[in-house]
Amino acid sequence: MVIMTTTSSRTFLPVLERIAEELEHTPGRGRAADYIPALAARDPRSFGMAVAELDGTVYGVGEWRQPFSAQSITKVFTLALDLAREGDELWEHVGREPSGNPFNSLVQLEYENGIPRNPFINAGALVVTDRLQTRTGDAAGELLAFLRAESGNPGLDFDREVAASETAHGDRNAALAHFMASYGNVDNEVPVLLDQYFRQCSIAASCADLALATGFLARHGIRADGSRLLTKSQAKQVNAVMLTCGTYDAAGDFAYRVGLPGKSGVGGGIIAVVPGRCTLCVWSPGLDERGNSVAGVAALDRFTTLTGLSVF
Ligand code: DON
Repeated sequence: MVIMTTTSSRTFLPVLERIAEELEHTPGRGRAADYIPALAARDPRSFGMAVAELDGTVYGVGEWRQPFSAQSITKVFTLALDLAREGDELWEHVGREPSGNPFNSLVQLEYENGIPRNPFINAGALVVTDRLQTRTGDAAGELLAFLRAESGNPGLDFDREVAASETAHGDRNAALAHFMASYGNVDNEVPVLLDQYFRQCSIAASCADLALATGFLARHGIRADGSRLLTKSQAKQVNAVMLTCGTYDAAGDFAYRVGLPGKSGVGGGIIAVVPGRCTLCVWSPGLDERGNSVAGVAALDRFTTLTGLSVF
């Protein structure tokens, strides 16, 4: 697909420029994630935002071409890749209800017999990656190939420093994986699963890359090359789970403020989908206490307010 950047098709550029200008004057940007030490040094005032139109036109403001750590945003793509392969059987191993708990919480897993509430909390994402690993033999490699193809950026790669940093501080994810393995809800050896998961989360990509890669969710399941990844119904399902679970225990507030399916990551990125219209990605590393980018949520809130676009 040709990525066009002609002025006439940059429909939302004035809106993005206005948002960037407003945020310049907004104090309080939260704090970069420090439980993964390699992410702690990021500047909370960095900001970028991109829009990708359905035809692959992409444009943005601020640091929209600057790679950052995709982290939990990747959970959307592994979910789609696994759902495309195994269909509804996945939902026997992971639920699709909001958890109302932090993304790395263990507390519900014991009551609920090792079945995580949804595919976006860490426990659920580990199950999805485990199942994709079983089906492909290289879940993280499959994900990287998909992101390269959809973004048109062959330079996308894992960030080995971030993956190593998370591996060295990964006790909580290791606990989640072992606990679910005790219920028979993990197929692969836990160290293999964790290696795949930490590499998945470490992928460095820009707002432009991730807005483009999310395009299949705005095109009702159709990839950048015109082939189909998901059925129309499955694309709706992924968007619905993003809306209800994509920002964890802030999903209600995100739906209230933004009104779009969205998925955050502790690298400070958030992707959002306007089905049938466009996709967005915003990045600013300062997080709130629930792990969502402060300026990112504010920017998406302003975008839907100024354009009147939302799923409602
Ligand atoms: O597993 C973790 O804790 C990180 N690799 C990803 C967490 C994350 O991005 C949560 N999102 N806001």
